[in-house]
Formats: sequence, structure tokens, C-alpha cells
Amino acid sequence: MTEKDFIPQSNISYPKEGRIGYKAPSNIALVKYWGKKENQIPANPSVSFTLDACATRTVVTFKEKTPADEFSFDLLFEGKPKEDFKPKIETFFNRVAVYLPYLKKYHFTIDTSNSFPHSSGIASSASGMAALALCLLEIEKMADATKDDSYFDKKASFLARLGSGSACRSIKGSLVQWGKHSGLERSTNLFGVPYPHKVHEVFKTYHDTILLVHKGQKTVSSTVGHNLMNGHPYAKSRFVHAHTNLDALEAVFASGDLEKFIGIVESEALTLHAMMMSSTPYFILMMPNTLQIINAIWDYRKTTGTPICFTLDAGANVHVLYPEDYKEQSIAFIQEQLVQYCENGHYICDKVGQGAKKLNLK
Ligand code: PMV
Repeated sequence: MTEKDFIPQSNISYPKEGRIGYKAPSNIALVKYWGKKENQIPANPSVSFTLDACATRTVVTFKEKTPADEFSFDLLFEGKPKEDFKPKIETFFNRVAVYLPYLKKYHFTIDTSNSFPHSSGIASSASGMAALALCLLEIEKMADATKDDSYFDKKASFLARLGSGSACRSIKGSLVQWGKHSGLERSTNLFGVPYPHKVHEVFKTYHDTILLVHKGQKTVSSTVGHNLMNGHPYAKSRFVHAHTNLDALEAVFASGDLEKFIGIVESEALTLHAMMMSSTPYFILMMPNTLQIINAIWDYRKTTGTPICFTLDAGANVHVLYPEDYKEQSIAFIQEQLVQYCENGHYICDKVGQGAKKLNLK
């Protein structure tokens, strides 16, 4: 498929008004996307677990307006107007306008809220952009019944990607791959696809407990971080490394080999941060407590043999990953030894989820 396949026919008749809602989850990358080309094209492929509890719920109300010459929308966050989110939405509208040519026809009210606490340091851009893309695309679906679900999922992911790269992995569950990779047929830079190879049962119920080490704003945004991979001295080998790790994960996902899984996932997390530390200018997003947690996980794993591991996003928070069968001891360990390193003792228990869902609005 190419971008052109996502431009709708011009003879569709769109509804005059309506109301649509979607809930879309966040996701956590196992092989990380870090570095991008123009139009949100990733420099390397990635794969992620779709999450469940961390999600954005968005309701879009739309009504025809004249003239249809510019974008018009109100943005509510948790029921209240939120002016500072508007520029990001405006940029998103501009990027997707050619694929959603009806956007200027309507005035929109976008009402959005997150299931996770505001300013928890958890990026809401993936779940937020996925939920918004789904709502806007649903208008096309109302007008054109000829397109199937598979087209809808691909286009929703394609649009979400234009909002925030990793958002394209938040449409479907439970393991999603994004980015062209020779080992994965049907893989593309344009949208995320459900992981096409065999996935062992253990990965379908994996847990992710997110330890909130730092709840404030990050010092360096992902956009800036991605751009610092241009001309980065280790970029070329990092991109090759991501492909190698994706290849290695194929056998791991199929067999459920947790030791190898842990080796790849932790290496990916540390490599992501190593790229940040070796950018020009260099920066560090981990905090002392991030390292305390990592060391405590390593000690605990060594002494108990529990297959618990960590991964990191572009921030100080730690995602603690463990299989369902080890849930009890892992939670006990987190509460006894790791919660002390969280800001105000806060953490979120999440697990692998099944993707976005349309809301049943009254
Ligand atoms: O989607 P962005 O532009 O916020 O970038 C996300 C990058 C990482 O979260 C660090 C890695 C990933 O693959 O999700």
C-alpha cells in the first residue's frame, strides 16, 4: 500500500453532524523506535505490547459549518477547555487533511480524558492520537460502507502515526510491529500491523507495572530526541541493531524463551538511553531512582530466578514486565522493594491489552 490508498474518493456524501467516541490504549515498545525521517517515517522498525489500563477516551462531536475554508475545533481535557493542547491538534489536522478531506467542513468539539493521572509523566500522545484518529476516521466510515475493517485499522494507524509515531501501534492488540523489516512480510513504515508470526501464550497476558519515578515534564521532548539521531555517530549501527533484535525476537516470541526475551528487552531500553547520552547535545532522562530500580530488579532476578525485567520509555519511569504466572511474587517485590523509589509511592498496574474500542455513546 502507499499513502495514495488512504485518500478517499471525492464522491462520498458525508453526514451533516454526529457524535463518535473511542477509547485507545497506550503501548510500550520492546524494540524501540528512536530516530525518524520526514513525515513520521521511522528510521528503524519497532515492536510493542499494547497496554490496557493506560488509555485515552475521546468523544468527538461534529457539525457542518460554512464556509468550509479552515479548521475549527474546541478542545476539552477532562471536561475543561485546554488551549495549550490546541497547536498539536492543529498540526495533526494539517498533516492528515489530504486523507480526511472533510475536516474543514465541520466544527468539532473534541472531549478527551486519560485513565491515568494527569502529569504522571506517562506520555499520552500515543493513546491520545490513536483515539482522535479513530474518531475522525469513523466519519469516513459513516459515509463509505465499501471499505472493510482491515482498511479501517490500517488507515487509523496510518493517521495516528502522523500525530505521533508510536501512536500507530495503539490501534490493535496485543503485539504490534511498525516499520519496514525484511523478516516480516507485510511490514511497512506507513502503519502498524499485528505481529504476523507465532506468539507464545505467555506473552498474551504479560504484565507491565509502571513505576512513576518522576511525574513532571521531561527535560527533552521525544521530537528533539528523534531529531538528534540525524548525524548521530552511532545511528547507523543502532538502526542495524534494531533489525537484528527484531529477527532474534521472532524465535523468542514463538518459543516463550523468557531469558532471551529479557536479554533483548533490557538491552533495547538501555540502548535507547545510550543514544540519548551520546547525542550532540547529550542528555540524560534517567534519574538516580531509575538506576536504583534497575539494580534491585537485577538482584531480585538473580537471587530468586523470577523472570522479571524492565524497559524504559523516553523518560525516568520504569516499566516492570513479568508473566502472569509470576504476578503474586512480582507485585510483592514491587511493593516491598521498588515503590520506595516512586514519586509519592505512585505506580500503575497494567497488562497487555487488545487494542482500541469504539464507545457506546448514549
Ligand atoms: O511516538 P514518539 O514520537 O513520542 O516517540 C516514542 C519513542 C519511544 O517511546 C522512546 C520508543 C517507542 O518506540 O515507543
